[in-house]
Amino acid sequence: MTTSIRDLRKWKSEGKKFTMLTAYDYTTARWLDRASIPVLLVGDSLGMTMLGYPDTLSVTMDDMIRHAGAVVRGAPNALVIGDLPFMAYHASAEDAIRNAGRFLQEARVQAVKMEGGGRVIEYTRQLAAMGIPVMAHLGLTPTFVNQFGGYRVQGRSDEAAEQILNDAKALEEAGAFAVVLEGIPSTLGERVTKALAIPTIGIGAGPHCDAQVLVIQDVLGLTPDHVAKFVRQYAKLGDAIEAAARQFDQDVRDGAFPTPEHEYSAR
Ligand code: KIV
Repeated sequence: MTTSIRDLRKWKSEGKKFTMLTAYDYTTARWLDRASIPVLLVGDSLGMTMLGYPDTLSVTMDDMIRHAGAVVRGAPNALVIGDLPFMAYHASAEDAIRNAGRFLQEARVQAVKMEGGGRVIEYTRQLAAMGIPVMAHLGLTPTFVNQFGGYRVQGRSDEAAEQILNDAKALEEAGAFAVVLEGIPSTLGERVTKALAIPTIGIGAGPHCDAQVLVIQDVLGLTPDHVAKFVRQYAKLGDAIEAAARQFDQDVRDGAFPTPEHEYSAR
């Protein structure tokens, strides 16, 4: 049965931890769905993982819709969430409603995610009132990279920690069904988790969050360069891809592929 936003809140009340992974394409989504990953996020991190940009800022709604539709088709059992990218909701509530609506209508995701507090709290209220479930995202929110002056851990000072805690409470009150906490001290992750009835989903936010999310490229060992401190690699698929490609190339050059079992007969 497809995971719903009600399941997430129930799991929190039962103390049952769960996972979310990012996914950006049909094939990977199928494998993750087979692995019973309950929540898939089509993150704007696809700017880096799929499109080769240095950050998330160039990602458009059209990029997101194309990839989100593929994930939805590959994962009939998961709750699939579409990440509203930079400038999809920054200018107005109208933009937020139109673009969130596009996600549900065109890609058929079940929910959207928005980064930040401030005006996003009001947008969350409006979307939730229209039947569009919202996942919030606080802490080291990647679209704020220029404002933060780099990818830096957030919420280290008392004041900044208080702000994140208050934003999380306000987003819950506005109707968010979950909140991603990224790049904050574990102690703050624990405080926010204890203060909310909705689940917290941590990435670099410590072990006390109700759920954990990672970027699938990091989990599979496909990230070519630096891997963040909070990541655990569960496979080395990058090495496996390189070895397979080298072997194919070698076999063709040596005449070792194709062999008779790969050939079609005339009749
Ligand atoms: O875009 C993304 O992948 C994300 C996750 C890291 C939470 O926002």
